[in-house]
Amino acid sequence: MALAASLIDPMNKSHDTPRHVAIVMDGNGRWASKRSLARAMGHKRGAEAVRGAIEGAVDAGVEYLTLYAFSSENWNRPAEEVSDLMGLLKLYLTREIKSLHKEGVRLRIIGNRDRLSAEIKKSITKAEELTKNNGRLTLVIALSYGSRDEILQAAKAVAIKATAGDLDIDQLTEEQFERELFTHGIPDPDLIIRTSGEQRLSNFLLWQVAYSEFLFVDTLWPDFTKEHFASAVKVFAMRERRYGVRP
Ligand code: IPE
Ligand code: IPE
Ligand code: MG
Repeated sequence: MALAASLIDPMNKSHDTPRHVAIVMDGNGRWASKRSLARAMGHKRGAEAVRGAIEGAVDAGVEYLTLYAFSSENWNRPAEEVSDLMGLLKLYLTREIKSLHKEGVRLRIIGNRDRLSAEIKKSITKAEELTKNNGRLTLVIALSYGSRDEILQAAKAVAIKATAGDLDIDQLTEEQFERELFTHGIPDPDLIIRTSGEQRLSNFLLWQVAYSEFLFVDTLWPDFTKEHFASAVKVFAMRERRYGVRP
């Protein structure tokens, strides 16, 4: 397949590995209902599938892997489901962190922490501190994350600086604005994958995906494996990125 593609247009294909892959991990509920299981079971299996994505990213030489784990809108789900999801996240942050650290993974959490429990906030700080010098892969987990919220708080931060006289608003650059986003210091995603067949962003990284490649796959998140990750990277390699200029 790769050979055929390179024969069609050898000059215009980028075979680069994506530096940053971001995934909307969707379909846990449908995975469970297909098996007449409780949604909580789908979320549990979904949390287990994270391992495959990390392995896939490490194997492919990806530097940043961002996983959308819980959106700002997901707070509006039934209390029981929110509590199941928070329980899993807490477990992940405490149990998995040791093996992640051993594997050289750095963890970063993006999102609005105000609504998270004190316990989760504490484990996030601990996990980020423990892994801060690791360089094999940066795993970014979007938790209580909403992109509009992120952009709005960045706009507020800039306005506050301008009012204080610390910044000339006429001179404001994209780079300066980006410094106020949760994702500061993280390169924009090269590839966005969404599982479960839905084709939307659901308030994920709206600023950062300006020139990302999108891949929508039908696989439900709990079924996603490192092989799925590897084929996504292959598809990415066939894409032609133009950034608005002529090839
Ligand atoms: C993704 O699975 C997990 C979260 C959004 C937290 P869903 O729970 O959205 O599963 P579906 O979309 O209902 O199948
Ligand atoms: C997006 O999935 C959020 C996460 C995967 C964490 P949702 O299932 O919440 O999105 P919608 O409601 O289908 O847009
Ligand atoms: Mg969903």
